[in-house]
Amino acid sequence: MSTSTNADRDFAADGEYEPPAPGEARRVSTAEGYECWAPIYDNAPNPLLAREERHLSPLLTNLRNKSVLDLACGTGRWLERLVTQGCASGVGIDRSVAMLRVAGRKTAIRGRLAKGDCENLPLPSASFDLALCSFAVGHIRDLGSMAYELGRVTRAGADVFVSDLHCDAYARGWRVGFRDGATPVQIEMRPRAAEEIVHVFCSNGFQCLTHESLWLGEQERPLFVQAGKSHSFVEACELPAILVGHFRRIGTGTQRGAR
Ligand SMILES: C[S@@+](CC[C@H](N)C(=O)[O-])C[C@H]1O[C@@H](n2cnc3c(N)ncnc32)[C@H](O)[C@@H]1O
Repeated sequence: MSTSTNADRDFAADGEYEPPAPGEARRVSTAEGYECWAPIYDNAPNPLLAREERHLSPLLTNLRNKSVLDLACGTGRWLERLVTQGCASGVGIDRSVAMLRVAGRKTAIRGRLAKGDCENLPLPSASFDLALCSFAVGHIRDLGSMAYELGRVTRAGADVFVSDLHCDAYARGWRVGFRDGATPVQIEMRPRAAEEIVHVFCSNGFQCLTHESLWLGEQERPLFVQAGKSHSFVEACELPAILVGHFRRIGTGTQRGAR
């Protein structure tokens, strides 16, 4: 996918991640970006979120006895699903009041949300059996602090899933963003390679079970069609779009490791 084709620009219109339109995009901080995006975040068809859900859903089963943390929960996409599926308890943490406000309108997760930073969690130690951090690590300033905090708040044996825009997709021009009317808005992020994420987590009390690159596939085609972007579909499938890591908490110590 080249950053200069019309197809790229079209693909940008309704997805969560959009390639840059040079000279057109407005670049904003994470705080400003999610403040503006929150009211419409849940509305647009989003092939990346759909692809991630297709991968993770079969792995997130047998929740009945599990205490779940949705880190950088945003509008509560995963928390709502996991609570509805019957997890024992669930908490969502996010730094954006605007995103949490939208999440708080969802009956299943109202009262389970708190404002907080991934690098300094307002949560007791050894509290969770399962944690997700979905499409957020690229926004985290100090990944080591986040991994340390995840290690602190999870119990030994806990599963932790981390997903984000693939750094290959970022290198080819995809960006985190949305449209504000006719103007593309790009939210600042620093893409992270699998090797960096694995190294940091493994230095902070986790074992890496898998890390995988996900490509969009036929199942996402209807979302392109729905968005009027079917002509962009084939091109969008030509590179890895998402990185997903699956980690397991080992031991009980919370010694701070690599940043
Ligand atoms: C792309 S959204 C993902 C939301 C949700 N996890 C999902 O997949 O739908 C990224 C979220 O990360 C949150 N975020 C970014 N940096 C954060 C930080 N340091 N601490 C907590 N939340 C953060 C943003 O406020 C935003 O809600």
